[in-house]
Amino acid sequence: MTESILSVRDLTKSYYGVTAVDNVTFDLPSGEITGLIGPNGSGKSTLFDCLSGISEADGGTVSLYGAQILGEKPEAIAQRKLIRTFQNITIFPDLSLIDNMRVVAQAHSGFGFLREIAGGSAVRKHEAQATLLANHLLEEIELFELRHRKAGEMSYGQQKLLVMGMAMMAHPRLVLFDEPVAGVNPTLIEKMKRHILRWHSAGVDFFIVEHNLRLIMDLCSTVLMLDQGRILTEGSPEAVVNDPRVIEAYLGGEPV
Ligand SMILES: Nc1ncnc2c1ncn2[C@@H]1O[C@H](COP(=O)(O)OP(=O)(O)OP(=O)(O)O)[C@@H](O)[C@H]1O
Ligand SMILES: [Mg+2]
Repeated sequence: MTESILSVRDLTKSYYGVTAVDNVTFDLPSGEITGLIGPNGSGKSTLFDCLSGISEADGGTVSLYGAQILGEKPEAIAQRKLIRTFQNITIFPDLSLIDNMRVVAQAHSGFGFLREIAGGSAVRKHEAQATLLANHLLEEIELFELRHRKAGEMSYGQQKLLVMGMAMMAHPRLVLFDEPVAGVNPTLIEKMKRHILRWHSAGVDFFIVEHNLRLIMDLCSTVLMLDQGRILTEGSPEAVVNDPRVIEAYLGGEPV
């Protein structure tokens, strides 16, 4: 049996009487890219919010690499190397691309408000390492030439790409991507898929929410399907998209 990196049991989250995540139980296998699909409003982002500490769940348990993390702050969960991105683009538009990347490193430096008094060589060493990693990642995602331009001047697709790069700045072990390719052109989507596969082969696991089923089919070894806050089915991408319940609930009765 494959080892599980994330074990979720009976996770529940309601908003004003609407149960967005309803008794969700699953295990994320180690060393894999897992997909999460489901109709609009089925609870995918809310599930990510609960796993990453953005929202407080009403009940259940979440174990990450064997540690119970439910109730921990997002920063603490990020320190455990679980990093998530948001459906909406979250960048600093007035900062350059390289500075957007460095901000992530600074946020994860652990120096916090002690930064000024910590001062000296430890901070400088961390900053130098962050710049090296930022340059390397920007080269990988082909934004290096643009690194001194403001992020807000980039195209929508380039900003989505930057968001991916920023997630990788935090030295993640597990990345939750919420709709990483929504609204991105097909050529760039293909490049993004190659980036994800390359990072995955370097040892990073991914849990990806996408409505782009081609991406899910191409990247994921396991897919979970959420419907009205509940896991309707899980399995191989082929099995899930051909499941009559998925076709009915998500694909409007039309097979892929
Ligand atoms: N902060 C919030 N306050 C109130 N209700 C919320 C909040 N966040 C989500 N919901 C509700 O929870 C349910 C699940 O929403 P969620 O955003 O998780 O769905 P989703 O599967 O990510 O949808 P989409 O594919 O459109 O992104 C919806 O009914 C939504 O209106
Ligand atoms: Mg969502």
